[in-house]
Formats: sequence, C-alpha cells, structure tokens
Amino acid sequence: MSTAALLLLDDVLVAAVAVAWPVAAYALRRGGRWWALAPALVLTAARVGVAVALAGSGWWFAADRLLLAVPLVSLPALVVLYQLVRQAAAPGLLRQAAPGPGPGVDPRVVLLAAYGGLAGVLVALVVTHPVRPVHAGLVVALAAGAGALTWRGPRRPGKAGTAAGVALLCFALVWAVAAVSASRVPERLNLGAHAMAQPLTRGRPTVLAAGRAAGAPVRQVSTLREPPGAPDRRFTLTAREATITLASGRRVPAWTFDGTVPGPTLRAEVGELVEVRLVNRMPELAVTLHWHGYPVRAGDDGVAGVTQDAVRPGGEFVYRFRATQPGTFWYHSHDLSDPAVRMGLFGLLVVSGGASEAVEHTVVLHELGGAPVLAVDGSAPAEGVVRQAAEPGSRVRLRVAVTANTPSLLGLSGVPYRLAAVDGRELTRPGQLRGERLRLAAGGRYDLVFTMPPAGAVALSAGNRLLVLGDGPAPAPPAGALLDITAYAPAGPPPPRRFDREVTWVLDRRLTLLDGLPRPAHTVNGRVWPDIEAPVVREGELIKITVVNRGRDTHPMHPHGHEVLVLSRNGRPAGRLRMDTFDVAPGEVWEVALRADNPGVWMSHCHDLSHAALGMTFHLAYEGVGTPFDAGRSSGNHPE
Ligand code: C2O
Ligand code: CU
Repeated sequence: MSTAALLLLDDVLVAAVAVAWPVAAYALRRGGRWWALAPALVLTAARVGVAVALAGSGWWFAADRLLLAVPLVSLPALVVLYQLVRQAAAPGLLRQAAPGPGPGVDPRVVLLAAYGGLAGVLVALVVTHPVRPVHAGLVVALAAGAGALTWRGPRRPGKAGTAAGVALLCFALVWAVAAVSASRVPERLNLGAHAMAQPLTRGRPTVLAAGRAAGAPVRQVSTLREPPGAPDRRFTLTAREATITLASGRRVPAWTFDGTVPGPTLRAEVGELVEVRLVNRMPELAVTLHWHGYPVRAGDDGVAGVTQDAVRPGGEFVYRFRATQPGTFWYHSHDLSDPAVRMGLFGLLVVSGGASEAVEHTVVLHELGGAPVLAVDGSAPAEGVVRQAAEPGSRVRLRVAVTANTPSLLGLSGVPYRLAAVDGRELTRPGQLRGERLRLAAGGRYDLVFTMPPAGAVALSAGNRLLVLGDGPAPAPPAGALLDITAYAPAGPPPPRRFDREVTWVLDRRLTLLDGLPRPAHTVNGRVWPDIEAPVVREGELIKITVVNRGRDTHPMHPHGHEVLVLSRNGRPAGRLRMDTFDVAPGEVWEVALRADNPGVWMSHCHDLSHAALGMTFHLAYEGVGTPFDAGRSSGNHPE
C-alpha cells in the first residue's frame, strides 16, 4: 500500500477507534457481554498495524502515532484484552447468558481506552513531526485528566483523582492561553535578525522594533543589487485594475500589469542587462515584482518586507538583473501574493539564447473568475479551445507555465515530442514521449518541443482546456501513464554525497494557532510563519534538503533565488533534474541539493499561495546578511 493510502487509512481508523471505545463502554454499562468489546479491540489492533507500516515509509510518518496516539489507546486496550483472556479461562464466563456484572472487564479501563481513542483524534488534529514535548504533554494531560476525573475507587469517588484531574485540565488551559499569545505575529519582524545577533542562531526571527543591533558587520540585501550599467532592455509594467474579457465574452474584474492577464511577456537574450520599472496605479493594493525561479540578486527579488518595501499606490520601483539563464520563467507580485497572483498580477519572462525552434508559443494555465483558463501568446484567456495555425514540418516549442495554485495535468497528442526543459532549465538528451501525461506543478514550467506532422493537428490538453495547432480535428487527449519526471531526465555525473548542512522540512496540515487564531494551517516541522526555523547558511555551502509530505495536500515547494538538484524521490535516485518548484505529493519524500551561491535573505514557501498564506512560508538566510525591511502588521509589508 502506498504511503498516501496508509495515511488515509490511518485517518479513518483514528475516527473509528475514537467511536468504538465509547460505544463499547456504553454497551458494557448496559450489561453487554464480551463481544461488545470486539470491534474496539480489532480496530485498535488495525491502528497499531498501520502505524507500524507507516514507520516503514519513514519515521516522520509514524513518530507521533507510535509515541503518543497508539500507546494512549492500545495500553488500556491490552489491559482489557488481558482481563478478557483471564476471565475466559475461568469456567462459565463465555456461556454466561443473562446480563450480569459484565464480562469480567473493569469498565474503568474501558473508559480509559475511550479517552485514549479520543486523544488519538487530538493527536491527528494537532500533533505532527517532530512531536513537541508540550503537545505530547498536553494530549497526555487531557486524557489522563479525564481519566482521573471519572475514575472511581471501589468504595467512593476518589478525591485525589478529582484533584489530579482538575490540575491536569488547568495545565492544559494555561498552556492554551500562553500559546495563543505566543502565536501572535509581531507588529514588526525582521527576517535578517539572525545576522544582527549571533550568526547561526535559529528560530523565531527576533523582533527588532526598537532599533537594530548597532555596528554589527552586516551586508544588507538592499545593497546586494545588480551594479549600475546601461540596460540592454527596458520595460515598464504598470499595475492597474482592469476588466478582462475572456475568449467566451465573459468579463471578469482583474488586477493587471498593463491591462492584460497575463501581463506582457518580457523577452531578453542571455547576457543582457534587463531593467524593469514597476509603476503602481492600483487604487489601494501595494505591489512588487518577483522573478520566479530566476537567479536575480537578492535586492531585486521583489519580496515585500524582505528585500524591499511594498510599492504603494502611486509609487515606483526599478528592478535590474542580468539575464544569465535562458528559459521560461515568470514574474509576479509578492505582497499578499495569493490574492495578487490569483487576480492577475503576473506575466512570463522568456530568456532566449539556448536551444531555439522556428515557432514558439507561450501557454499560461491560470484560473480567472472561478474557471480554469488557458492564455496563448497573450491572447484573451480561454475556458475552452484555442486554435493556432501551424506549418507542417515546422519545429515548435511550447512554453507552458502554471500560474494557478493547483497543478495541471497536461497531455500532448498527435505527435511524438520531447520535454525539453523543466523550470526553464534545458534537459540534456530528453527521451521521446508519446501518449504520456505530464503533471506540472503550480508555479512550474515545461517546454515541450516537437515537429508538426505533415498533416493533421496537434493538441495540448489541460483538463477541458485545449490548444490546437494546425488544421483538422483535434486528436484525443492522451490517456497514458503519468510521466515520472524525476526518472525522465537521464542520469548525469554522480550526485554529490557530502553536504555542508542538512535540513528536513516535514510538511503537514494541522490545527494550530496562526496569528492568535486556531486554523487548519499548513505546517513545516510543526510550525507556521513566522516561527518556522530558517536554515542559516554560509556562501558556497552545499545544502541537502529532505522534504517529507505527511499531509493530504500537494505542496509545490519553491525556494527563491536558487535552483535545486533533485537527488531522489521516495528513495529512488533521480536523473539530473534541476527545478525551482518541485511538487511534493502526499506521502512523498524528496531529497534535493541546493548550492548556496546567491547571498541574501530568501523567501521559501509552498507555491500553492493559499497554503503559503496559511502558514507554509519561511526563509533561507545567509550568515551575515540582513535586511533593513520589516514584515508584520504595522510594516505595511505582507511577504505572502
Ligand atoms: Cu513565485 Cu515566492 O514565489
Ligand atoms: Cu502547499
């Protein structure tokens, strides 16, 4: 069974066990016999089995279960089982017909198992990996407190039990109040705080509201910028509201660059110096420009509250970067990114200079006005079919980008093709594909290359959206297997084995306090923004990152300013694949390597931007690099 299936089964068993024990306790009170306990015992045994199986996929998946949830219910269950067996050995019990004093099982132990089963629900809701002692203490305190309160001695209600129960429940209450206040996001917080205090410290970015540490030798991100020089390309992008007319004629309100969604495609050649002036004409919204996946210098990364202050309405900001890397990239606003990108503040960045084909089309997959749309070459976004003429025999490159929050399932039919580039990085010797389906992560890009057949049409499908090239009826979308891109790129030189630093990001969805409110947040190592531990690295280091998805959502992980080299997926070594946004599906474990070659303070987050807004946002810090910009409520900057 796959890890994802085990995780799902475990969730079902958690609920079943939580119901089965109270039902058994009730049945016993009503004089039920030994088989009233059977369902609870069987489900508990199943839970133990699934937890052990999950441990086989990795300790990250099972630690909370094996250390906490399972013992809380299975220990009392074992006692119940023991009492059953002992009584079974006594003559006559199993043949006892009339309702009597129960099957010889202590009902108080059954009640303990019931509390244990309910505690399992709490564990499933709030505890993740790593298990934090305070969470473990809280869950045990609640279960034990409830048990103590209801435990009755043989003669009379136990006073000591009541006192202990009340004390444990008070502990839980005090903890909850303290946790609420600790989870409030500070009015101002500075992600460069590590550089101001001691290097290589970890944890919550210190709040530096009342002036920063004076005299610390710190390089500020605002100084890590492209040196001046005459730009080879100049662009101006104006953020403004507009009403977009879809191909169907439907009109949707949007936030745009230059009045279109996507915004203009910016094109440059490798080696050129690019200058982009951002002008904000939005009535209220602050805007920035972030160069997704592009190795710009930190000061031009465009993250509000990290590399600059958000550009307020009426304001301007000039970005500069050297086009060093050919390929398909994109830009988007990075202040309140989720609504900003969803409403249209994005566009493509295409840098040529690598491989080239005679004909190319840009294909953007987004969602507008609640419907998935497809925008080809800057024409009106369409909910259905887009047609383009194509010369038979011409070489075509499709530059496909997903700018929505969810991945797209793509298929190219009517012609054999190659997946020439992933996230803008050209693959060496990509194999020929025909009939496979491709999954493209939110924020990711694929370049598909093929030669138009002598007759007939070629179609790129993404759900109901279709780009048809050439004449004639569109060929049916492929129904083949899903391509494993980590296995598609042929293996290159052996991957690195020695790393200067290793970090693990365990992703999950848990009920937690987000800025003082209990929310079903997306967590990294059990924490949410801004409390997720930021790795602090030194320039030149090679970092190994292990990403584990324990949850039920897919998480396209996106570290800014760097590409990662995929080392393995679910333990299987990967081909030579470099990405900036890699989709970690439920139950998956990815190992990637990141070379710390671009000093700065770099955002790192899930590119389902709604997840990023619900906690899954952190950063990568370089030793000795700080930022003069603050995030937090009163700063006016919202990195996510
Ligand atoms: Cu598209 Cu923070 O990124
Ligand atoms: Cu996510």
